[in-house]
Amino acid sequence: MDERIIVAIDGPAASGKGTVAKKLAKILNLPHLDSGQLYRRIAYQVLKDSVNPNDKKALIELTKKINFENTEIEDLRNDNISSVASIISQYSEVRDQLIEYQRDFASNGAVVDGRDIGTIIFPNAKYKFYITASLEQRAERRYLQLKRDNAEIDRNNIKNDIKMRDLRDINRKIAALRKAVDAIEIDTTEMKIDDVIDFIVKYIHKG
Ligand code: DC
Repeated sequence: MDERIIVAIDGPAASGKGTVAKKLAKILNLPHLDSGQLYRRIAYQVLKDSVNPNDKKALIELTKKINFENTEIEDLRNDNISSVASIISQYSEVRDQLIEYQRDFASNGAVVDGRDIGTIIFPNAKYKFYITASLEQRAERRYLQLKRDNAEIDRNNIKNDIKMRDLRDINRKIAALRKAVDAIEIDTTEMKIDDVIDFIVKYIHKG
């Protein structure tokens, strides 16, 4: 396949887009970028350095110092980091500093997942998908995922966190989560991950 092909995958929290993007990248032999990890990496540093997540000036300074090649330092998927990532990602001061990294990463083609990939980062991506699922289903998936590591986890808290994050991501002033007009929407509420991948691979191979 053309090595500069970009597959943009957007969608709300816990929609399964990350898992889909990762598997798809393997199948298509393209690098995968989980852009949420970039925002999570900043959130991790905000919490570690006790920075106020609404202090834009401090956020810019902190973001400049981060090496984004290294997002595997810690488990970045916990609830605290998720909420702070959603807060700091509202600011253009933060988002602007990540644009170049994402475009450079995909300069030879990539599968990239996030919230604004098909709308802002790669508006000309050849393939765009918007992966979604009902709030209940997304909360249940995230619950089962987190429960593996933490038996104390509460279903309702997870559902509320996801709901809050959706509201923030959808209603923010810049790069809000929305389906690109030319993206294909896939509602995975009743679908297995492998069926979603199958659908996308077939679609891409059809050209
Ligand atoms: O995809 P995720 O759940 O790992 O993303 C964590 C947060 O990062 C999400 O709530 C909003 C923000 N984010 C964003 O604003 N833009 C992206 N392209 C990816 C994530």
